Amino acid sequence: MAEPRQRLLPTVADTEALGRELATELRAGDLVVLDGPLGAGKTALTRGIAAGLGVQGRVSSPTFIIARQHRAGRRAGADPVPLVHVDAYRLGGNLDELDALDLDTELNHAVVVVEWGRGVVEQLATRHLRVLLSREPDSEVRTAIWEWVD
Ligand SMILES: Nc1ncnc2c1ncn2[C@@H]1O[C@H](COP(=O)(O)OP(=O)(O)O)[C@@H](O)[C@H]1O
Ligand SMILES: [Mg+2]
Repeated sequence: MAEPRQRLLPTVADTEALGRELATELRAGDLVVLDGPLGAGKTALTRGIAAGLGVQGRVSSPTFIIARQHRAGRRAGADPVPLVHVDAYRLGGNLDELDALDLDTELNHAVVVVEWGRGVVEQLATRHLRVLLSREPDSEVRTAIWEWVD
């Protein structure tokens, strides 16, 4: 397993840029688990991942619909891949609702990014990219720590 990597993210643009970078490591079947409190930048990071993957449609918080599909678009340097963006917050660890999303099927052909997924979705894949975002009170600066976990 690779060492965890860490970066300071002074602005939302830096968070999105990290997402675009991480996207270069992502292929169909990859699971990304985003952790960190409300406002930490999980959706902003997903926006960057989506831009890096070149998928279609605007990324917004999927809170009220739980999961949103983005069709594959054009992708430089790698095969096009769809993105499934999930917000597991309202699932509250409800495994039946999680099952209903059929993420294991989605993982056959898509990249799956799950906000609030820690401790809930890891078993869906043999390995996952875990990203922990944190924020200081009264500051724009975020910190990201990420690693591939087997
Ligand atoms: N460095 C930063 N990284 C990410 N978001 C930031 C940063 N600085 C300020 N923000 C703002 O914080 C909010 C993060 O929201 P969001 O990405 O929806 O967080 P989450 O999905 O973790 O709840 C956005 O309004 C964004 O503009
Ligand atoms: Mg969010």
